[in-house]
Amino acid sequence: MVLRRLFFLIALFCLSCSETPDELLTGTPLEKGEQLYQINCVRCHGSDGNKGASGAKQLKNSKLSKRQIIDIIKDGKGVMPSFKNTIKGDSSFIWLAEYVETLKK
Ligand code: HEC
Repeated sequence: MVLRRLFFLIALFCLSCSETPDELLTGTPLEKGEQLYQINCVRCHGSDGNKGASGAKQLKNSKLSKRQIIDIIKDGKGVMPSFKNTIKGDSSFIWLAEYVETLKK
């Protein structure tokens, strides 16, 4: 019983912390990118990339290459924070950038 409660507490803690272990993500690379986007980016960019909170760029108008998108996610830009320490795993950034590219119209 104690063990189970401990496990629950740890699970709860992991849900509330900002780190995103990529083993929690499921599906195709694009679906994983979408999950990472929902967790980390929606609060400023909105689910369609056009919310523009805190001066966030409209992602659908973005002219950036995938490489440039990855660099911005890693390093941040202006008000946008760096996600280098928040998002784990190099492939996570590629998944995210690929998902961001699907928001471009
Ligand atoms: C705190 C709010 C905030 C969060 C969270 C945030 N962004 Fe941003 N984002 C911004 C702002 C503000 C800019 C504009 C930066 C500038 O040009 O000065 C921006 C710019 C960008 C750009 C550049 C667009 C262009 O064409 O110049 C991309 C790509 C981007 N964000 C992707 C993401 C992704 C992917 C995530 C999630 C990992 C994310 N952002 C999370 C606020 C945010």
